[in-house]
Amino acid sequence: MSKSDLRAGVVGTGFIGAVHVEALRRLGVEVAGIVGSSPERARAKGLAPAVESYEALLADERVDVVHLTTPNHLHHQQVKQALEAGKHVVCEKPLALSSDESAELLELAEASGVVHCTNFNIRFYPQGQQARALIAAGALGQVWNVHGGYLQDWLQLPTDWNWRLEPEKGGALRAVADIGSHWLDLVQFVTGLRVSSLLADLATAIPIRRRPTREIETFAAAGDVEREDARMTTEDLAHILLRFEDGTRGSVVVSQVSAGRKNSLRFEVDGSEGAIAWDSEKNEELWLGHRGRANEVLQRDPAVLLPEAAARTGLPGGHAEGFAETFKQLYRAVYAAVAAGGPPDDPDYPTFADGHRENVLGDAVALSDRERRWVEVTT
Ligand SMILES: NC(=O)c1ccc[n+]([C@@H]2O[C@H](COP(=O)([O-])OP(=O)(O)OC[C@H]3O[C@@H](n4cnc5c(N)ncnc54)[C@H](O)[C@@H]3O)[C@@H](O)[C@H]2O)c1
Repeated sequence: MSKSDLRAGVVGTGFIGAVHVEALRRLGVEVAGIVGSSPERARAKGLAPAVESYEALLADERVDVVHLTTPNHLHHQQVKQALEAGKHVVCEKPLALSSDESAELLELAEASGVVHCTNFNIRFYPQGQQARALIAAGALGQVWNVHGGYLQDWLQLPTDWNWRLEPEKGGALRAVADIGSHWLDLVQFVTGLRVSSLLADLATAIPIRRRPTREIETFAAAGDVEREDARMTTEDLAHILLRFEDGTRGSVVVSQVSAGRKNSLRFEVDGSEGAIAWDSEKNEELWLGHRGRANEVLQRDPAVLLPEAAARTGLPGGHAEGFAETFKQLYRAVYAAVAAGGPPDDPDYPTFADGHRENVLGDAVALSDRERRWVEVTT
């Protein structure tokens, strides 16, 4: 079976649902149906044929893979339903609201034999793949330090509003689950090292926000709408100290209230032979730090990237790629597994095991902050 014989169903028609649909189309996968919060809303979006209900989508035998792009609190139930229907599943992060929920989903998915993916698309920037390949080849020598941040400003103002601010929809952790999870997944992927313990300090910079009395979609301008006071219980920012399994140290700052930073995920890895740094807002560049010679900036160009990275990029150097391509490259890997009939022994895409690991780390972050102490991470 080839990718062009496979069909997807997408659930959720918001910011990222549209990105999934577009990436699938560019890959040649037909989007057979899309489910919104109501059939009218799905039809109004015009992304793909609107399906009356999630149950109707699951009953459609033409649909091979279900993509879940709904608010976080719906993932657990919707994944379970998709697995029961025998569908392959791509679920947005965070996989679930707690590690108990994500452990159950991982177990069910592994027992089902279907392909399961947690949508950590940021792994699929070619320069992240290049950094991983360089570190695996020993280019940094002994790695001893991993540091960086994930900073955004879209929740900077008390009037900024989104379902992520409501714990019953977004979860008890917010900035860490929403974007910190991407950072933690990425640095573990790039270094090949797992976080083994952490110390977290969370803060709510804006304790009371002005909630609109009607629903606002992600990144949509709220305009001049009626509002009411809402007390915040989730974090706007986090500082986390990390220890990796081999003793490597790390730290990360996560914030959704850092003015001017639109979507800046940065990491830097220091080792005995050199350093590597990357920023998602300049995603085509990889900085290579040296002690005894000039530093380098490697521009994305399939002609000069290592084979692992060159395989994850489409356009020639100088023809900018970005966020949208990471989804296309991720689904290329996922749909290759689906076309092959099931998950490979060593998946080259993030699975529910990676999604579960992020929920375990999230629970550890919450516990560490609550009890103001280091917490061991075990999965
Ligand atoms: N991987 C990434 O880079 C990335 C980026 C953004 C969001 N996300 C994740 O994607 C998910 C959605 O986030 P978003 O920013 O697109 O939110 P959004 O609010 O823009 O979109 C969510 C959509 O789901 C719809 N919806 C709500 N209940 C539904 C239901 N029962 N059935 C079907 N549709 C329903 C809403 O109407 C809305 O259109 C979240 O889990 C988020 O963490 C991932």
